[in-house]
Amino acid sequence: MSRCLIVFFSQGGTTGRIAASIAEGLRAGKHDVDLHNLKNGPPPDPGQYDILGIGTPAYYFRPPFIVSDYLNSLPSLSGKLVFSFVLHGSLCGDAGNVVRRALERKGGKETGYARYHGADYFLGYLKHGYLLSPNHPKPEAIARAKQFGQEVAACCAGKAYERPVYAAPPAMIYRLERFLINRLFVRQMYSRLLWLNKKKCNACGICVKLCPTKNISEDNKRQPLFGRNCLLCFSCEMKCPQDAIASPVTWFMFWPFMVYNLRQASRDASIEHVRVVHARGRTSVVEKGK
Ligand SMILES: Cc1cc2nc3c(=O)[nH]c(=O)nc-3n(C[C@H](O)[C@H](O)[C@H](O)COP(=O)(O)O)c2cc1C
Repeated sequence: MSRCLIVFFSQGGTTGRIAASIAEGLRAGKHDVDLHNLKNGPPPDPGQYDILGIGTPAYYFRPPFIVSDYLNSLPSLSGKLVFSFVLHGSLCGDAGNVVRRALERKGGKETGYARYHGADYFLGYLKHGYLLSPNHPKPEAIARAKQFGQEVAACCAGKAYERPVYAAPPAMIYRLERFLINRLFVRQMYSRLLWLNKKKCNACGICVKLCPTKNISEDNKRQPLFGRNCLLCFSCEMKCPQDAIASPVTWFMFWPFMVYNLRQASRDASIEHVRVVHARGRTSVVEKGK
């Protein structure tokens, strides 16, 4: 029996659900599977496993920093069997390409690659009144993920693998957006601009618990203090029941990009959406889209 490790990052749970389904498929193919969400700390040593799977959501048309850091930290995979999968709310961009290329550079041998839609709780869109890909992944995609796991198992057992081509790079405007959310700007600029309204904050600790990089500590009044290791996932601001956290997501310079992205997404028949209102940590559907 081969051992498989699936390392993924999931803040909203959709990547985790797909990972669990892929694991089910692999187990049906007689593999022993361990799952690890990067938000729970460092994963086990992949050297103890025969197969390594990587799952990531698209964040700003690439994998989030926590996933790229993990990929960079991997030792040489020298022929280890690898597979990857991406969750995305609208436009995946280079997220899959980055993961696949990193695994290839490390010497991994690809046995599978898949993409799925996942409900897009990006705060910028929610604040503009849109939830993209609501209720995704749907049962059909969950079933497809299990089948994907079975196919990976079959390829690991020697079935020929037809490697999908890399996705075309995203259009210039999306590359510009991705550039604006680069690591240097996030560390040196945006992470300093997470702002707390101390009068509104009731020190509930939700933001501290939710932060996937443990970037939020507490002061002596148990109110949050923001560090620099931010992913710009905006979970802290999104889930704050007091609306006490503000961030650059509402900056006017991002406005045209949000409007452009949402206009493109709402015209794309392959991307479902609903109109929502987001306040006090809750997203409520107000109108069905398509
Ligand atoms: C901060 C942030 C940035 C995102 N950027 C993108 C993106 O560039 N393209 C896309 O298609 N989806 C994007 N999404 C949507 C997620 O990729 C998608 O919702 C995914 O299913 C989330 O995975 P999770 O539920 O496992 O956290 C973004 C979501 C967040 C929170």
